[in-house]
Amino acid sequence: MSELNIDWANLKFGYMPTDYNVRCYFRNGAWGEIEVSSEESINIHMAATCLHYGQEAFEGLKAYRCKDGKIRIFRMEANAERLQSTCRGILMPELSTEKFCEMVKKVVKLNERFIPPYESGASLYIRPLLIGTGAQVGVHPANEYLFVIFVTPVGPYFKGGFFANPYVVIREYDRSAPLGTGIYKVGGNYAASLLANKKAHDLGYACEFYLDAKEKKYIDEAGAANFFGIKNNTYITPKSTSILPSITNKSLMQLAEDLGLKVERRQIPIEELETMEEAGACGTAAVISPISKIDDLEMNKSYVISKDGKPGPISKKLYDKLRGIQYGEEPDVHGWVTVLD
Ligand code: PLP
Ligand code: COI
Repeated sequence: MSELNIDWANLKFGYMPTDYNVRCYFRNGAWGEIEVSSEESINIHMAATCLHYGQEAFEGLKAYRCKDGKIRIFRMEANAERLQSTCRGILMPELSTEKFCEMVKKVVKLNERFIPPYESGASLYIRPLLIGTGAQVGVHPANEYLFVIFVTPVGPYFKGGFFANPYVVIREYDRSAPLGTGIYKVGGNYAASLLANKKAHDLGYACEFYLDAKEKKYIDEAGAANFFGIKNNTYITPKSTSILPSITNKSLMQLAEDLGLKVERRQIPIEELETMEEAGACGTAAVISPISKIDDLEMNKSYVISKDGKPGPISKKLYDKLRGIQYGEEPDVHGWVTVLD
């Protein structure tokens, strides 16, 4: 094996080839054996349902090289379960949690040399992908599927790491409908977000901010991350039928409770931002990304949350606790971490 020449500390959130990916095919009504591949490309039928009708789902989780030399993977069972939920949502065959986890562990182990060193600030991003490969011309689910997992070392999703960023409310595009696919991790939601995301970046913001599509009244999500706000010793996060059930957010709700905070999952009117003491975006890629301000340009409003760009004390506590668990430096009392053997 040749030496890797990677500048770990300056890694971006992007793709880099690694040694192997793992694959599993669904044919004749059943999932096959796990295969190991070093090919970066996949060969699929031009009439595959993933290409035409968006029968496609993905996941995202991370593995960390820790201070004690061990490799830890965060909440892979929860990712397996969310993929199963997505499969039910767009009529794809479910993969068992056992098979999902076996494949995750295998692909991480096979690419161990790409797991960034401890304290580099980088980690190994694991990207499971499930696509309908069977040919259809009518709008129907495929009868053949490919499940593949690749990994790639990544740095922070937002520039500047754990530092507050500005967001902008986008009212002219919806990412997902109230009874649509927003609760599933399907590619179509991300296609629907590209214009809004570009607009936010063009205006100089870190990310776009979505309100509920029906009334444009309540907070939904922040780009590819969930939203949380803190006030009166309470962790508040949106209850919505059009946002992704974030595993990071679920973990933070639990940690907030452990820290003695009250937790509320409810509709959050955008104007309530005025009373928030802290706010952040959370997700696997974003970890916790504090929010400095949210501008609602059409309404001529700017909700300033952190004037100095620094994370608030509770966000910092939650961040430290979550990172501590992910890196094996805090007790894993909820059984979230898998230590690779
Ligand atoms: N919301 C969206 C739209 C996302 O793409 C993600 C990323 O996965 C999240 C929220 C955060 O979810 P998680 O914490 O499970 O990564
Ligand atoms: C994640 O946090 O895992 C994401 O999916 C974010 C984005 C790269 C889609």
